[in-house]
Amino acid sequence: MSKGRRVFIAGGALTPFIGKGHPDFIWKRHPDFGVKENPTLEVMLQQAVDGAIDDTGVDPERVDRLYIGNFVGELFCNQGHLGAALAGTHPAFANKPSARLEGACASGGLAFLTGVDAIRAGEDTILVAGVEVQTTQSARIGADYLARASHYSRQRSIDEFTFPALFARRTKAYREAFGVSEEDIGHVAVKAYGNANKNPLAHMKSRPMTLEVAGSANDRNPCFLANEELNPYIKMSDCSQVSDGAAALVLVSEEGLKALGLTEADVVEVAGVGHSVASLYTDGDLTQLTTTANAVSKAYAAAGIGASNVDIAEVHDCFTVTELMMIEALGLAQPGEGASLTAAGGTAIDGDVPVNTGGGLIGFGHPVGATGVKQPLEIFRQMKGRCGDYQVSKAMTWGVTANMGGDDKTVVSLAIRNLN
Ligand code: CAA
Repeated sequence: MSKGRRVFIAGGALTPFIGKGHPDFIWKRHPDFGVKENPTLEVMLQQAVDGAIDDTGVDPERVDRLYIGNFVGELFCNQGHLGAALAGTHPAFANKPSARLEGACASGGLAFLTGVDAIRAGEDTILVAGVEVQTTQSARIGADYLARASHYSRQRSIDEFTFPALFARRTKAYREAFGVSEEDIGHVAVKAYGNANKNPLAHMKSRPMTLEVAGSANDRNPCFLANEELNPYIKMSDCSQVSDGAAALVLVSEEGLKALGLTEADVVEVAGVGHSVASLYTDGDLTQLTTTANAVSKAYAAAGIGASNVDIAEVHDCFTVTELMMIEALGLAQPGEGASLTAAGGTAIDGDVPVNTGGGLIGFGHPVGATGVKQPLEIFRQMKGRCGDYQVSKAMTWGVTANMGGDDKTVVSLAIRNLN
């Protein structure tokens, strides 16, 4: 961190991310339909918090403050006031400061940043969680809820599937500007599902994806927008999943680290953060994520690194084109060259800079409020060799994340250092 006290991630836990397409997710065609229910928001949050306590061995009494990321619990689950829900996950949390942060799909990132600020302000142990349960409604109704992350009065009418349409618009602009083909972009989906197939916690752990299916529209992979101009630019396989899930982790100061009985070799350091927000009311260059680039540059500057130092990244691939623009915003590829880097395997698990090794938002899943907490936890898990079949084998010193709310509006980026 540029100033102030050092901040470490001591460990954490994730629930499985589930939804349509996951073998354990109960819906119409599942044998348990009508017999069992899917886990609720409360159950998922509890599971992640219990897992984070187990993983770090933290004494809940020692937790100074708690923060939670969630976007629209009120709409999907009739439940707001999630700071109090987080306080309810352990008796020792009663009367501690606990609050929810909201910044659309960057809600988890904001909860993480607030935890970092609390440590820098003098606290020693912070619990950060993120949760979203979205499968209580159809994808179509869910799309209306998620459209609250756009400027609703101006942008909702673009299509009933507002966010897929906003990113179809970006895909069109990107392809026209850089001469990138549909098949080129298909490589992102193939990588995402391929990585998810190695990840037991991933939403798409059991769904295969080939370039034949992802590379052009077909019966198994249709374009689905009603907006005729944008329809050809987004297919099912280009989209992140409508997932349920939760993540939780423990942030500590140097004193907090000692209290846990851990050494620096057990943890990773949050060495730089970047937080940038653009106006909800205007749109910028459709071919670039300028707010993301701004947040990333702040994280790099605070950590004293640049793109050439990055060993691994977790980026916000809410759609396939977004991953390409994200890796360009991180400086891992020149504008328009993200697709060729991906097709050449540069971002694969065994590539130069592995990106979204567990499957990203497309393969691992996107329980909106959990995503910005999952990202740094995934970097931690990779750096500490905990990723099983999707473990990166090379040594890693620097990891970078980018968590995005709305259409490049609220962005949180982290530069994370492995301490051996
Ligand atoms: N042919 C044509 N259309 C078809 C079709 C076919 N064979 N199969 C499905 N469709 C269309 C239909 O219109 C269908 O709607 P109806 O059910 O109302 O008829 C629609 O696709 C959805 O179909 P399903 O319900 O069968 O599909 P699904 O539940 O698997 O959803 C998805 C697929 C629509 C792509 C869904 O996964 C989705 O919406 N993903 C994107 C989620 C999203 O936008 N998240 C937010 C990302 S943006 C971000 O991260 C930033 C932020 O702040 C929000």
